[in-house]
Amino acid sequence: MKQTHYLVIGSGIAGLTFAIKTASHFPDKKVTIITKSNASESNTKYAQGGIAVVMNQIEDNFQKHIEDTLICGDGLCDKEVVKMVVTEGPKRVQELIDWGTHFDKNKEGSLDLGKEGGHSENRVVHHKDQTGYEIERAILRKAHLQKNIEILDFHFAIDLITKDNCCLGIYALNEITNEILTFQADYTLLATGGIGQVYGHTTNPEIATGDGIAMAKRANATLKNMEFIQFHPTALFSKDLTSTFLISEAVRGFGAYLRNKEGNRFMLNYDKRGELASRDIVSQCIEKELKNSGNECVYLDCTHLDIISFKNHFPMIYERCYDIGIVIEKDWIPVVPAQHYVCGGIEVDCNGKTSIKNLFACGECSHTGLHGANRLASNSLLEALVYSDRIFNYLKVHTKTNLTINIPNLRTQNNQKLDANWVISTRKKLQILMQKNVGIVRNNQSLELTKSQLNSWKTEIESLKSNVLLTKEMCELENMIDTSLLIVKHSLKRTENKGGFVKN
Ligand code: FAD
Ligand code: SIN
Repeated sequence: MKQTHYLVIGSGIAGLTFAIKTASHFPDKKVTIITKSNASESNTKYAQGGIAVVMNQIEDNFQKHIEDTLICGDGLCDKEVVKMVVTEGPKRVQELIDWGTHFDKNKEGSLDLGKEGGHSENRVVHHKDQTGYEIERAILRKAHLQKNIEILDFHFAIDLITKDNCCLGIYALNEITNEILTFQADYTLLATGGIGQVYGHTTNPEIATGDGIAMAKRANATLKNMEFIQFHPTALFSKDLTSTFLISEAVRGFGAYLRNKEGNRFMLNYDKRGELASRDIVSQCIEKELKNSGNECVYLDCTHLDIISFKNHFPMIYERCYDIGIVIEKDWIPVVPAQHYVCGGIEVDCNGKTSIKNLFACGECSHTGLHGANRLASNSLLEALVYSDRIFNYLKVHTKTNLTINIPNLRTQNNQKLDANWVISTRKKLQILMQKNVGIVRNNQSLELTKSQLNSWKTEIESLKSNVLLTKEMCELENMIDTSLLIVKHSLKRTENKGGFVKN
């Protein structure tokens, strides 16, 4: 059994920023980060647009950011949480800068602030179109410099260990040796990120399989608002059910138009904010356009924009399109909505505490009350920064040592292998089912059918699991089934359409 004081699951913005602060405040305590891929792989790394934060109090102010967040959340945000996150944001972003993160500056030398859907002002701090890559680079470097942080990559968290509603640690799989390890910890933080892979067609990378959410559910933690799945309006069109490249909303903030095949700027027919209406609205309008026309995609038109400036702001997007034969100064970019973000998750209080003692959650896997029925663009990195700081501050005062309890091992590995094809094909079938029945517009009949299929896969995997070699792929599949079941059950329960949730 491995013992540590603070156990962090996940090495994205939520996990790393918590680990850095905690390790430097408690130099005599050990912080262990376990992460299932290489340490930088995360949703964080792919963030494009930036961090929404009021850094310029001349045109902008906290009240405007609060209002924009509340409007976007369609009446379901927790107002106190919104106020707290918005007002604490600037200090947290300054910390990232102090740790060596580079954000773009304008000619005057102040932060260059971008605009995205739902924002009434320019307030998105960014690093070209690779903000997440730059943040992840800086914080991972900082974490590596901290002597009492241990980062165990290619370690997969299987399940939480709980006793009397108290978290004692986790069981994890060493993906290289296939050994099942027991980690005992005073405090455990779930920072496992998103769920995109349950839809297949998603902007999220392969690691986003809802593991933390599923683990928390199996441990009987409270989960909230899982029906609110955010679909990003402008993912690069692809027919395949795979992760897809994002065309940042900042491109529309920069002035790009959305057109249908006939060339009409259709968003103006639906919302006076046009292309910069909030994400839920733009995605729902694109869905309508596609349904009515039978077309496969709509288009982002950047041909009227200053191309030198465009390339300077969005070099990665320009290159990626160029590589597939789309020359942005003359071609329209084919786009469709794709799953992007889960607004719900593991319910936490204002200090990131879950309903299980000594278990905290932070970042995309958590539900804080900030996003309500639809997240305002670029509020996610902000939320992770503010909450990791709040958890750290809470534990600064409340840390106690309780590493004495004896924990049984999970089980030894069994050598018999499960047919890998069954896992691969069931994962694919699940993605097709979720994409078809639990997308932007849902109905109870399809949700019921989906629930019954998911339950039958759940029974199957439970009975198989105990007799075979436990693999990451098998555990991910179980997590995807559990996460999908949560989305479906919460969707069935919701009777009122709000924000990103539409049922007819
Ligand atoms: P992540 O960054 O996803 O990190 C999760 C970590 O947990 C990973 O290291 C993963 O490997 C690990 N993990 C997961 N399961 C396990 C397990 N079982 N065992 C061990 N480790 C595990 N938000 C914004 O605010 N602004 C943006 O501009 C923006 N752009 C985006 C663009 C794209 C393409 C995407 C996909 C998202 C974007 N988002 C943006 C959303 C934002 O990036 C994420 O919500 C945020 O980065 C989540 O951070 P996190 O630390 O919670 O999780
Ligand atoms: C984007 O750049 O469009 C993504 C921003 C976000 O998800 O907040």
